[in-house]
Amino acid sequence: MINVTHQIDELYDQVERMVVSLPLSLQEHINRTRDLASRLGEIHGVDGKRCALGALSHDLARHLEGSQLLIQSKEKNIPLNSYELDSPVLLHGPLAAVWLESELGCDDEEVVNSVRYHTTGRPCMTHIEKIVFIADKVEAEKLAENPELILVADKMEVDLDESILEYLKLRVKSLMQQKRVVHPLALETWNYLIQKE
Ligand SMILES: [Fe+2]
Ligand SMILES: [Fe+2]
Repeated sequence: MINVTHQIDELYDQVERMVVSLPLSLQEHINRTRDLASRLGEIHGVDGKRCALGALSHDLARHLEGSQLLIQSKEKNIPLNSYELDSPVLLHGPLAAVWLESELGCDDEEVVNSVRYHTTGRPCMTHIEKIVFIADKVEAEKLAENPELILVADKMEVDLDESILEYLKLRVKSLMQQKRVVHPLALETWNYLIQKE
């Protein structure tokens, strides 16, 4: 237990040092996401430090151009499908997850997956994955920019699944109205949570 705590503290410090080299607006988003994720961790009885580590790491690769995301993802053997090839920004979570796991040595699978799947979600998410997913979507500034998200924020303290469903409903509807592609993992997440109800 002492070693686990030690490892997470060290990892947290390492990731914090990486975050301060990112563009300022991205740093601010990451910090707001981290604060909300810790709070949600406390509310839902999940280790706040693990939620905070996932949130702190989730957008480490978000500043990279699409071409860089593709190059680096290929180097790391991240599987690419047509959705990622059309929209390489989708790779920023998977790439940051590989950095966290392979380069920083994080062996906390739930934290790594919270980074990997934070954009689309996935069926069978653990509490940490759900918390990082929601915290990223409704941190204070995003809430201020899009008041519709209040419906998601209202539910996040009570029921994480309901909150995710509310977010996916808004997001998928908006993508469809814009005639844009919906990532299959987002749809699978929706179907999974609806069938679970
Ligand atoms: Fe992201
Ligand atoms: Fe984010």
